[in-house]
Amino acid sequence: NWYHGASYLISAAELSQLPEDTGFEVAFAGRSNAGKSSAINTICNQKSLCRTSKTPGRTQLINQFELDDTHRLTDLPGYGYAKVPEAMKRRWQKTLGEYLETRKCLQGVVLMMDIRHPMSSHDLQMLEWARACNMPVHCLLTKADKLKRGPAKSTLLQVLKELKKMSPLFTAQMFSSSKRDGLPEAWQKLNEWYQV
Ligand code: GTP
Ligand code: MG
Repeated sequence: NWYHGASYLISAAELSQLPEDTGFEVAFAGRSNAGKSSAINTICNQKSLCRTSKTPGRTQLINQFELDDTHRLTDLPGYGYAKVPEAMKRRWQKTLGEYLETRKCLQGVVLMMDIRHPMSSHDLQMLEWARACNMPVHCLLTKADKLKRGPAKSTLLQVLKELKKMSPLFTAQMFSSSKRDGLPEAWQKLNEWYQV
């Protein structure tokens, strides 16, 4: 599996520190604590490629990992964490917005949402932005192990229905890092975006 070979590339505080804007990039975004870092670790089958933590807001830099010379994966800082100082929030917001709007090699955004509270106002902002610039978004409803099958399924159907109304480029699936559920579907979407 190609994704298992991912390796750490850079932690950037500013966009200017990122590698040249060529090749293919996929960004992982979502609220703080949604399980972004865990999902990347699971997808890449590595225990600590990304730092995970019980303290929300831990990932404050743009962390990049490379699959090969032309394919990269980006772990974006989580948004919406209330306890982060206002000035810092604004700085992240600006960097995040700039990355998403200017990065030409960006093929799509994997949007992670805790299945117990999907489609928060911040998620909707992200989706609205993506819709406006025709950016594909694949939603991972994370921590699916926290719900029983029935409620998990109906949440997925509800989210799919809402996404469909917004853009034909939006898709969603269930995902659980602790159960390692949803991996083939996630890999398939990434393959499509990375054109491999
Ligand atoms: P920030 O980087 O702080 O924005 O958070 P993050 O979105 O990267 O979340 P992270 O992967 O660090 O996970 C946050 C918490 O959720 C940790 O305590 C994880 O162990 C837990 N978690 C992540 N994925 C799962 C999952 O699939 N199931 C369960 N039960 N817990 C999970
Ligand atoms: Mg993280």
